[in-house]
Amino acid sequence: MRIIQISEFHLRSDGKLSFQKCDTRAFVAKTIDWLRDLEPYDLPDYFVVSGDLAEGGTREGLAMVREELARLPRPAYVVPGNHDDRNLYLEMLPDNAPVASDIAPYICYTVESQPVRSIFIDTSLPGKHWGGLADPVADWLEAQLDKHPKTPTIVFGHHPPFESGLPAMDEGFENRDRMAQIFEKHKDHIIYCCGHLHTPLITTWHGVSCRVSPAVCMQMEVDFRTPDSPDVTTKEREAGFKGGGDRFYLANPACYIHNFVDGQVNTHYVPIPVGADYSGPWPFKYYEGEH
Ligand SMILES: [Fe+2]
Ligand SMILES: [Fe+2]
Repeated sequence: MRIIQISEFHLRSDGKLSFQKCDTRAFVAKTIDWLRDLEPYDLPDYFVVSGDLAEGGTREGLAMVREELARLPRPAYVVPGNHDDRNLYLEMLPDNAPVASDIAPYICYTVESQPVRSIFIDTSLPGKHWGGLADPVADWLEAQLDKHPKTPTIVFGHHPPFESGLPAMDEGFENRDRMAQIFEKHKDHIIYCCGHLHTPLITTWHGVSCRVSPAVCMQMEVDFRTPDSPDVTTKEREAGFKGGGDRFYLANPACYIHNFVDGQVNTHYVPIPVGADYSGPWPFKYYEGEH
């Protein structure tokens, strides 16, 4: 069994470049082209997009995302990121996010595939860039895991619950202790896959293997400097340097292929050629009138 995970579309519906540099519509379309053209023997059981689908969470952007996902030859499941509106997900993406009635409006559901099931959780917090586990989501997740405590399970969310070491991205995770408690209880049979960081990262947190997906749009510069690091230049300081983890390159996207073999989930990093020019780093900075 195989799942292909992609993340971070940030699709703009107004034709403008994201952060004045990235043609997110073209990056997404070319990524979907590449996935659609995979040889039949390379196709996964399903695709997962781990959030930040439409820049500004707009209805128009989400409609474009829905059209792109419909071009894929297998089902595509989604979770919301900090740029997304969960109510629009409920209204516009019922096939891509078949939300369990007992947990709506949180975008949480289970796909009971064999031999690995997937549990999708909503880590978005309306109006906030960082993530967390709302109490109803925590209760629901724990109940799902308790139901089949031996079934290999991939939990998909948008935000990593752990510190990344990229200071501008480390804004905390609400209800982190509860997440840690759930992970420890179920660490023998789950892994956690997410996005948000725009760069691949693999770690273990409270006994659970965690895998952060690379991005489709805007690959994060891996920069560990804090705002008061002696290595910050005067020019950067004057520009309001917030710490590493706040700039991107126009690099090619990549996906993760999660392949279940011999009782374990192997994750392969596979670049997707879309002709990116690798310029940068550019700041993740909104300009006048943008959001
Ligand atoms: Fe993102
Ligand atoms: Fe995000």
